[in-house]
Amino acid sequence: MSGNSTIIRDSFSSKFGVIAAAAGSAVGLGNIWRFPLVACQNGGGAFLILYIGFVLIIGIPVLLSEFSIGRRAQLNAFGSFRAIAPKTKWSLVGLLGIIAAFTILAFYSTVAGWTLEYFTQAVSGKFANVSDMSKNFSDFSSHPYRPLIWQLLFMILTASVVFAGIKKGIEKLTKILMPILVILIIAVVVRSVSLPGASQGLHYLFVPDWSAVTFTTVLMALGQAAFSLSIGMGALITYGSYIQKDNHLLNTSIQVAMADTGIAILSSLMVIPAVFAFTSSGLSEFSPGPGLVFEVLPNVFKSMPGGGAFSIMFFFLLAVAALTSTISVLEVVVAFFKEELKMSRGKATIIASVAIAALGVLATLSFGLLKDITLFNFTIFEMLNYLSANVLLTFGALLIVIFVGWKMGKSQFYDEISNNGTIKSGIYKIIFFIIRYIAPVAIGIIAIAAFFVDGITG
Ligand code: PHE
Repeated sequence: MSGNSTIIRDSFSSKFGVIAAAAGSAVGLGNIWRFPLVACQNGGGAFLILYIGFVLIIGIPVLLSEFSIGRRAQLNAFGSFRAIAPKTKWSLVGLLGIIAAFTILAFYSTVAGWTLEYFTQAVSGKFANVSDMSKNFSDFSSHPYRPLIWQLLFMILTASVVFAGIKKGIEKLTKILMPILVILIIAVVVRSVSLPGASQGLHYLFVPDWSAVTFTTVLMALGQAAFSLSIGMGALITYGSYIQKDNHLLNTSIQVAMADTGIAILSSLMVIPAVFAFTSSGLSEFSPGPGLVFEVLPNVFKSMPGGGAFSIMFFFLLAVAALTSTISVLEVVVAFFKEELKMSRGKATIIASVAIAALGVLATLSFGLLKDITLFNFTIFEMLNYLSANVLLTFGALLIVIFVGWKMGKSQFYDEISNNGTIKSGIYKIIFFIIRYIAPVAIGIIAIAAFFVDGITG
């Protein structure tokens, strides 16, 4: 750690910058592409209620825990655990986060690449001439090199923002893009819920059917909450290490969780009513797979007035949401290489991006050339997707709350979140109680029950 004290650490420069960057990390393909998909596969309304419950009782406490670990230690995810708990094995939790960054970014950059292809298809007006959108998607996603080119381009975009640093890269970009994203999403929601037939989708989304809920459903909701909030792998520990000492961490955590959950709900309002409006009998006619957003929505855009413009907006906003998230995942690895392996930011960015892209290529090819390589019936892409949210992030979140509740302890945690006692709040006690007792037990029970009772299912 000694070397770091002499170097002035890059940091966010304003409160809005912190929110834009952290909400930028949270709001992503997880909200717009993954949430409606997972919700459709796991019972709609019941899933939504479980999801919101998890954001409140687990999400916000873990968010706050991560920010406080990072801001206290002023280091990357691995170094932060080492600094707070020296000479222990806790830094392995940081290492787990670095591994999660690889598995997440590998499959995430596949989908992020698709958004670029679809953006160009939207701009060129191609949807108007396509009669079979499912075929359009499978032809593209199984193509031997087209999706790879987009994926690599997306990794280059991500790397160039991270390369530019915290203030000049990440903060600057997210401050501009996040407000644009919100406006575009609202515009598309208004269009989607006003489509004829949309009300069935709203019914599906908001009226819970508890008979569809199993332990796996509960684990999927928890995994989705962790994935969507970017918790459990150190992205927010890393961002936390760039937050100014006078920032009110609890308020920031609540604002980020609210923004993310609000956008997850808006995204479902964008996608699910459109699915029902398009397929007359809703989901029974349409089996939701990773192409949900890329097959159903272009059809909707094609058949609605002004659809051309909305399709351009939608795929642009999807790419933007993805980019503000991929930079946070890459930053986890870059900060680690930079501080632990003493690399320059440039070298760290290049090495991390190339290594992640190598794994990412396998995820992309698992829709074509490598589609027959499976494990437990999952393709490489599906395996990385499931493993990231339901195993690595869930387990990571569990270890993080145990760390704060039992190792970092009450006094260091209070010191950090109260800015050394300058902010007083009665709620801190409740949050610490949740972190110490409730969150670990809840996460532990769900993870164990899903594994032993339901087994590994999709
Ligand atoms: N939260 C991001 C999304 O919803 C994905 C992500 C996961 C980003 C973990 C960082 C860390 O798309």
